Amino acid sequence: MGAPARNTTDASAPGWSAPDKDAPGWSAPDEGAPGWSAPDKDAPGWSAPDKDAPGWSVPDEGAPIDLVALFGRRAPVVLEIGSGMGDATAAMAAADPGRDYLAVEVHTPGIANLLALTERHGLTNVRIARGDALDLVRYLLPPDALDAVHAFFPDPWPKPRHHKRRLIQPEHVALLRSRLVPGGTLHCATDWAEYAESMLQTLTADPGLVNPYADYALRPAHRPVTKFERRGTAAGRRIFDLIFHRR
Ligand SMILES: C[S@@+](CC[C@H](N)C(=O)[O-])C[C@H]1O[C@@H](n2cnc3c(N)ncnc32)[C@H](O)[C@@H]1O
Repeated sequence: MGAPARNTTDASAPGWSAPDKDAPGWSAPDEGAPGWSAPDKDAPGWSAPDKDAPGWSVPDEGAPIDLVALFGRRAPVVLEIGSGMGDATAAMAAADPGRDYLAVEVHTPGIANLLALTERHGLTNVRIARGDALDLVRYLLPPDALDAVHAFFPDPWPKPRHHKRRLIQPEHVALLRSRLVPGGTLHCATDWAEYAESMLQTLTADPGLVNPYADYALRPAHRPVTKFERRGTAAGRRIFDLIFHRR
C-alpha cells in the first residue's frame, strides 16, 4: 500500500507549525560552531538559493516522493530527522557517498546552513525537506523506502506533560519502521537518560524491530559529534545510542 496522499501543504494544518522557540532543544544558530558561516551576500558567485535546483528541497505536496528521481540515482537512502545545523548530516554524507541523505528539519537557519555545507563540499547525495518529519514520513515517503532513519538528539521534552510531543513513541516508531527496508536501521541518540530509557522500552516493545545489542549500542564511530552531544557531555551527561533493525 502506498503512502496516503495529501492534497496540499497547508501551514495551518495540524503537524505544520512554526518552530517553537521555547521548546527544549531550540536554539538560535550558533555562529561560532564549526561549519557555520553566514552567507556572504557580497561574495562573487553569491546568489539566492535556486529553489528548483537539486538539493534545495523535496516537493512539499502531492504524491509520495520518487526517491530515485529526487537523487538522480538508485541508492540506499538515509533519513536524518531534525538535522539541526546539518553538520552531522553533511559529514556523514561526505563519508558515505554510496548512500543518499534526506534531511528533514523545521529550523530555517539550520536548513540554510546545511544547504551552504552541501554546496561548499560539493555533496551530491544530500536533499533537504523543510517541515514536520512525521508528515514527511507519513504522506511523502513510501513503505520500504529507507535504508536507515537517524534521530540524533531529538528534543527531549523533559516535562511529563510534554512527553506526548516526543518523536520516539510507539505509533511514531511503527510509522518509521514501516518506511525502512527489511534489515534497515533505526538509530537514535540522546543525552537525556530518562528519554533514553523510554526509547529503549518503546523500541524493544515494537514487534517489527530487533536490537542486536543487549540494550544500548556502543557509540558508532560514523556518528559525528554534534553541538547537542558536546553540550550534553560538557554538562556531565552520558550519551546513549540505540540501534535497532527492522525484522
Ligand atoms: C535538539 S536538536 C538536534 C539537532 C541535531 N540532530 C544535532 O544532533 O545537533 C533537535 C532538532 O530537531 C528539529 N525538530 C524538532 N521537531 C521536528 C519535527 N517535527 N520535524 C523536523 N525537525 C524537527 C529541531 O528544529 C532541532 O533542530
